[in-house]
Amino acid sequence: MGGSKAEEKPAGGGGGGEDWWCYQFGNKDALIVKSSKKSPLALRMVVFAMTMICGIFICTMCMKQLGSDSLSRIVKIEVAEQLCNKSAILHSEVHFVHYPQPITYSRSECKCTPVRFFAIISSQRSGSGWFETLLNSHMNVSSNGEIFSSKERRSNISSITKTLDKVYNLDWNSSASKNECTAAVGLKWMLNQGLVANHADIADYFNRRGVSAIFLFRWNLLRQLVSQLANNHDRYLKQLNGTHKAHVHTAYEASILARYKPRLNTTSLIRSLKQVDDYTRDALENLKSINHITIYYEDLIRNRTKLLDVLDFLKVPRSKLVSRHVKIHTKPLSEQIENWDEVYNALNGTQYESFLNADYRI
Ligand SMILES: *[C@@H]1O[C@H](CO)[C@@H](O)[C@H](O)[C@H]1NC(C)=O
Ligand SMILES: *[C@@H]1O[C@H](CO)[C@@H](O)[C@H](O)[C@H]1NC(C)=O
Ligand SMILES: *[C@@H]1O[C@H](CO)[C@@H](O)[C@H](O)[C@H]1NC(C)=O
Ligand SMILES: *[C@@H]1O[C@H](CO)[C@@H](O)[C@H](O)[C@H]1NC(C)=O
Ligand SMILES: *[C@@H]1O[C@H](CO)[C@@H](O)[C@H](O)[C@H]1NC(C)=O
Ligand SMILES: *[C@@H]1O[C@H](CO)[C@@H](O)[C@H](O)[C@H]1NC(C)=O
Ligand SMILES: *[C@@H]1O[C@H](CO)[C@@H](O)[C@H](O)[C@H]1NC(C)=O
Ligand SMILES: *[C@@H]1O[C@H](CO)[C@@H](O)[C@H](O)[C@H]1NC(C)=O
Repeated sequence: MGGSKAEEKPAGGGGGGEDWWCYQFGNKDALIVKSSKKSPLALRMVVFAMTMICGIFICTMCMKQLGSDSLSRIVKIEVAEQLCNKSAILHSEVHFVHYPQPITYSRSECKCTPVRFFAIISSQRSGSGWFETLLNSHMNVSSNGEIFSSKERRSNISSITKTLDKVYNLDWNSSASKNECTAAVGLKWMLNQGLVANHADIADYFNRRGVSAIFLFRWNLLRQLVSQLANNHDRYLKQLNGTHKAHVHTAYEASILARYKPRLNTTSLIRSLKQVDDYTRDALENLKSINHITIYYEDLIRNRTKLLDVLDFLKVPRSKLVSRHVKIHTKPLSEQIENWDEVYNALNGTQYESFLNADYRI
């Protein structure tokens, strides 16, 4: 009865109690057939038929038992994989293409729309607010804002991971969340919001889950400093009808905020600039293993077509992007700093001299 064994084994193959159960009964049937050899032909036929029926019945039972759990699950996963045809996606891109299955809603007809994960990595007063509204004006992009401005969400790496998982599973609900057809989902993340503090774990997460980064920085750190001081000033004075605004939507509001000219401490100026410079440089060095594109605010201001590079990087269709944000500091630096002559003398001839002269590198 060796043949019988060989037939039964693969049928129940895959391991587990049920297989063993089927295998044993298979042998019993074989024994019955063997004993029937002494009976007359009719009886032999009856026994044979019964054996067949019994065998089919047992096998059906086995299949049902398997089907109720593991088998059906395997089939379901295979169906889902087949539904989303990945064959058109370049081999080098597969790691960055995802098909999230949100818990809170169904992606319905877009469940096979590939989704890219991204993060805008930047620092305060580098134009990232403006940049994010531009991206969010794209039909297929959802950037959910500075979600790590909340201390609790960035208090430790497990909190950070949990938050990122929710965002990338398309379960984060913000005003920027698009419909189920989102093709790129992300957030805006400042270096000092737990990013530098947890850089190794975060780079690891990004690389493991195929998250891409848009590094958005400002080349002119002196202008960034002026913007920061003016913003801090407004935080206390609240020049616009008693409300603090980090970003404005009208030229009138911008002109009110730009009226303030900060006085810079020239004793500590070079040290401050160097600190910011080193901090950013170190951060980028630590995060450079992430798939990324680097964008400078000044280049965007000068040449909007740079935005198309970002859309190409995110692999979303090119389209016109708009923002209601109005630039606050539009005048030359010399008209934005109270003690310009002192500042000029402090930086003239140093490595930061270019910040004085090459305004926006236009
Ligand atoms: C997947 O798409 C490719 C072309 O993009 C096509 O040739 C192939 O037949 C598709 N496979 C399935 C299973 O639909
Ligand atoms: C962009 O969104 C539109 C509308 O939701 C959808 O029809 C289209 O397929 C999406 N495009 C991509 C590339 O995901
Ligand atoms: C991480 O932070 C969250 C929120 O602050 C807290 O509930 C949790 O206990 C912390 N986990 C660890 C491992 O410290
Ligand atoms: C998202 O939040 C808004 C308002 O808070 C609510 O109306 C909407 O139903 C929420 N959407 C989802 C998918 O939870
Ligand atoms: C203050 O509010 C009034 C009434 O809403 C508006 O007309 C005025 O322009 C506001 N002023 C500023 C500086 O935003
Ligand atoms: C300028 O910076 C120096 C060094 O940090 C400090 O000692 C000094 O008090 C500062 N001056 C003003 C006016 O804040
Ligand atoms: C603007 O940027 C695009 C894309 O990076 C580039 O191809 C083009 O040459 C730039 N134009 C100018 C005038 O710098
Ligand atoms: C800047 O420094 C150079 C010498 O390093 C000097 O010749 C020049 O006059 C300075 N510029 C101003 C505006 O002070």
